[in-house]
Amino acid sequence: MKKRILIIGACGQIGTELTAALRAAYAPHKVIASDIIEGDEVMMNSGPFEVLDAMDYDAVQDVVIKHEITDVYLMAAMLSATSEKFPMRAWNLNMNSLFNVLNLAKDGKIDKIFWPSSIAVFGPTTPKENTPQRTVMEPSTVYGISKQTGERWCEYYHKKFGVDVRSLRYPGLVSYKTLPGGGTTDYAVDIYHKAVKHNKYICFLNAETTLPMMYMDDAIKATIGIMEAPESNIKIRNSYNLAGMSFHPEAIAESIRNLQPGFEISYDPDFRQAIADSWPKSIDDTEARNDWGWNHEVELDEMTKIMLKNLT
Ligand code: SER
Repeated sequence: MKKRILIIGACGQIGTELTAALRAAYAPHKVIASDIIEGDEVMMNSGPFEVLDAMDYDAVQDVVIKHEITDVYLMAAMLSATSEKFPMRAWNLNMNSLFNVLNLAKDGKIDKIFWPSSIAVFGPTTPKENTPQRTVMEPSTVYGISKQTGERWCEYYHKKFGVDVRSLRYPGLVSYKTLPGGGTTDYAVDIYHKAVKHNKYICFLNAETTLPMMYMDDAIKATIGIMEAPESNIKIRNSYNLAGMSFHPEAIAESIRNLQPGFEISYDPDFRQAIADSWPKSIDDTEARNDWGWNHEVELDEMTKIMLKNLT
């Protein structure tokens, strides 16, 4: 098989698990991981690794040529909360890294790109319940603006240059294997860590803040699923809505309490509350389900069981 994969941002929350899944699915030597710094032992010993700055076009091109890369998963990004603190750095990282891979594909140096978008492309004027694939999109965060812009460029490169770029609007992702960094949905991971350690948690969002969320295994399944789907099935070239479950902090607390009586939660919302308030509560992902057969598996109580068991 000719396919050779490069993961950029392989040491991040999604990249770590995506690399492991791709190395399990394909021959490990055909899955090249890369990040701005070296990864942990598992990452470094399970297949090839390149230290790579996603913003350095020449360096990305060198790695692509050296390893005869066909498919790139561009997972390097600055998330929503950190992006509010460093707007220009977020913009530069999130946009330049995308242009680098889009231009390599346009010039025929790679065949296929995966680029993650986010529920952050939606804003305060978007319908909040069952947010449709096509709707008002007026993102009010630095991160959301970069993802919305990136979506437009993906579609443009597909239409204008035939670039095979595929994308998902991830909801908040939860995993026991990796930690998120600098996102607004990070509470849904942190809460399990604190539950196991202290049986209590102070949440930076308020009790009723419902957001679209997903267990990481489902997100990885969606990512590899959309990349493996026949090209003719991919009808949306900006980014697909993708949904798993929707819940608020009090619902996770309740789900934890069912297994761990006495778990206490208190609320001390910070600047991330405004970000969360601008995002949808639930997502309509009918088109992903119809076009390339997406379905999710894990619901809240099941996720709680997995998280507590593995973190304990
Ligand atoms: N989980 C991300 C964040 O909170 C959203 O894409 O920033």
